[in-house]
Amino acid sequence: MSKATFPKDFLWGGATAAYQCEGAWKEDGKGFAVTDLLTAGTREIPRIFTPEEKENTYYPAKQAIDHYHHYKEDIALFAEMGFKVYRMSISWVRIFPNGDDEIPNQKGLEFYHKIFQECKKYGIEPLVTISHHDVPLALALKQDGWLSRKTISAFVNYCETIFKEYKDEVKYWIVFNEINMMTSYFGDIYTGGILSNGTTHLDIAHASEEALSADKMKKRFKALHHQFVACAKVVEIGHKINEQFKIGSMVAADAHYPYSCNPVNVIAAQKSMRRIWYCADVMVRGEYSYVADSYLKDQGICLTDLDITVEDKAILQAGTIDFLALSYYTSGCHAVDEVHETTAGNFSLGVANPYLKKSDWGWVFDPQGLRWMLNELYGRYNIPLFIAENGLGAVDEISEDGKIHDPYRMQYLDNHVSAMREALEDGVNLMGYTWWGPIDLISASTGEMKKRYGFIYVDRDNEGNGSLKRIRKDSFYRYQEIIKTNGACVK
Ligand code: BG6
Repeated sequence: MSKATFPKDFLWGGATAAYQCEGAWKEDGKGFAVTDLLTAGTREIPRIFTPEEKENTYYPAKQAIDHYHHYKEDIALFAEMGFKVYRMSISWVRIFPNGDDEIPNQKGLEFYHKIFQECKKYGIEPLVTISHHDVPLALALKQDGWLSRKTISAFVNYCETIFKEYKDEVKYWIVFNEINMMTSYFGDIYTGGILSNGTTHLDIAHASEEALSADKMKKRFKALHHQFVACAKVVEIGHKINEQFKIGSMVAADAHYPYSCNPVNVIAAQKSMRRIWYCADVMVRGEYSYVADSYLKDQGICLTDLDITVEDKAILQAGTIDFLALSYYTSGCHAVDEVHETTAGNFSLGVANPYLKKSDWGWVFDPQGLRWMLNELYGRYNIPLFIAENGLGAVDEISEDGKIHDPYRMQYLDNHVSAMREALEDGVNLMGYTWWGPIDLISASTGEMKKRYGFIYVDRDNEGNGSLKRIRKDSFYRYQEIIKTNGACVK
């Protein structure tokens, strides 16, 4: 039997997020997002949130990689790799500095027009994430961000504004980045529910030890419910503004395996998948499914705690998404019969897999897990899938020849492209693939520059020093070849 190939119109590209690359954090009328005010950390040191800018403190988002002023150069480099799509996010606070202002900030609107024009110049399709972690600080301070229903209307207004503004330039949208992260240790920061939760840091080192009161979990899940309602409203409104719009939303979908065939571990792994199903069920099927009850019960809460109204239910039904976007980086195992060494990821993933190697940040390499996950998602939802993030954060060194040789990244890329092709052979409907951080940018979990994902190196260090010069890594040419051959060059 001949091998499946990638569809002719497969959307190859890369993904970034505003606060991790743009910089220019106070320029042209932009307000602060909560994520702007996170200090730099490491794998061991938490990032601290400060409700206002502190003197003599380094905030990585302040300048990031200065994409705001380098966007032409950056998009030209993406075009040189052959990108068909560029996934980027609009910063809510560039458009509405306080989140709920009456009038949008023209300079903010203009900036994204410039980005889309630049993409068009090279035939690159923009894919816009509407909310990538960056809830407006003003809304967090005033009303605990997504904990308040008032944030739903502010967000809907923001979406309506950008849908109308860019309706002829953008076709593909992702409403929320990794919406299921709201229930993880990132949740208090990403929902802006910081003040009521008393959380002031983002502590990846202790994520797996995190034990929260039912009251705190209730707040996270309530904020998440408000995001579901907002997502559904926005899908409906977007389709009215332009019926050609393809509007998706996204889950972090790392793979979960039982550590052994001991049935208690199999059940534990199955249960851990609820962190994906809980969210995707609502966005794809328009209602909370049976897994919601047991998932919430395990957090000490129940669905009635979330104050879901009859009107909410109708909204969820009316605004289901057109495609499901996912991020996939790694996998973890589940064991409840014995204690084992743990593993890391953008979620805390449980037990390390003895068959797999790890990155410097402890994320295991598992391309087969991508094939497995695509099949799980497609089998359950039967709507098109889009891999909106996948990538390897690693330490890169500039060699004596002035180049960056990154065979480890090329290997990671090849293996995941190969797994995607296998998933296509399995019959999965996959629209596209955007590598996370095609250009080095700020790490979300640690705030480091040292954790580099890019095919393009940016001369900048963890303290914010460096010329910001862009250098093509070896992987740049590999991705270029993969796109040029539509994946055929990968074994
Ligand atoms: C995803 C986020 O969780 O993982 C990105 O959507 C993030 O914003 C990416 O950057 C990689 O995580 P990290 O912590 O290595 O930057």
